[in-house]
Amino acid sequence: MSTVRKAVIPAAGWGTRFLPFTKSVPKEMLPIIDRPAIQYIVEEAVAAGIEDILIITSPYKKAIEDHFDRTIELEGLLADGGKEVEAEQVRAIADLAEIHTIRQGQALGLGHAVGMARRHVGDEPFAVLLGDDMMHPSSPLLRDMIGATEERDTSTIALMRVPKEDVSLYGSAAVEPIEGAEPLVAVRGLVEKPRSEDAPSDLAVIGRYVFTAEIFEHIERTAPGKGGEIQLTDAMATLAAGSGVNGWVFEGGRYDVGNKVDYLRAILDLGSERDDIRPGLMRVVRDFVEREGLE
Ligand code: UTP
Repeated sequence: MSTVRKAVIPAAGWGTRFLPFTKSVPKEMLPIIDRPAIQYIVEEAVAAGIEDILIITSPYKKAIEDHFDRTIELEGLLADGGKEVEAEQVRAIADLAEIHTIRQGQALGLGHAVGMARRHVGDEPFAVLLGDDMMHPSSPLLRDMIGATEERDTSTIALMRVPKEDVSLYGSAAVEPIEGAEPLVAVRGLVEKPRSEDAPSDLAVIGRYVFTAEIFEHIERTAPGKGGEIQLTDAMATLAAGSGVNGWVFEGGRYDVGNKVDYLRAILDLGSERDDIRPGLMRVVRDFVEREGLE
């Protein structure tokens, strides 16, 4: 099977959970310290060996397109002012990978967004990274999933155990073990946002997928489902029932940037790992813990 070189980042949703911020700024542009969340996601893809990235944007998300473009005037201004480090930082963003964008004119659902990548991706296997789901930079998840897909010529989706009360927020998977392949499991069924009593398991589908090109046929046959949207989960369910889908069960290192509290956790975690931020951040946290009596 061919290697996974391309990735798709759907980032065209409305981001209603983060209103009013998302009225004019894409949630994928939420800053984690000094970089937008989507830059971490692009860097994660590149670190896993991806060379070509297609970002699905919308008419309201021009800031994403601009962020990955050159800003010659700013680069010149910084260089002239002796700010070489900053100039290089700004320049490097445009060189991270071969980045393309395409607009989803209407947010008709995640399945529809991924389906828009068909011509760009062609017949190759490819990764999908959701634009509001961030992994810690040290996470091996995407690389592991790419390895599993290349080895078995089967799509691999990321699965995470969640508390029972949270299963209704995600796609939920029915799985069976694959002997000797742990943490890889065979996906036997998928349900989008089930009521907790109807969920097949506590394994939730998280925003990392590595698909064979076969997924596109399934997306095309998928009718609008939950919420009137073309659901990626429904297309994955028919793929699982046909030639099969595997799941990679992982733990930790994931931040749902579209969720306000998880967004704050991402800033705390990543800020505490940076030499320029850690001392000041720790003082703030210490004072806060004391004041709130959390010790
Ligand atoms: P979400 O359902 O989390 O995003 O979709 P949303 O609709 O933007 O957010 P809320 O729930 O209203 O707050 C997961 C990812 O899929 C993209 C989103 O941008 C997000 O990165 N998406 C969703 C699309 O690209 N197109 C769509 O039609 C729907």
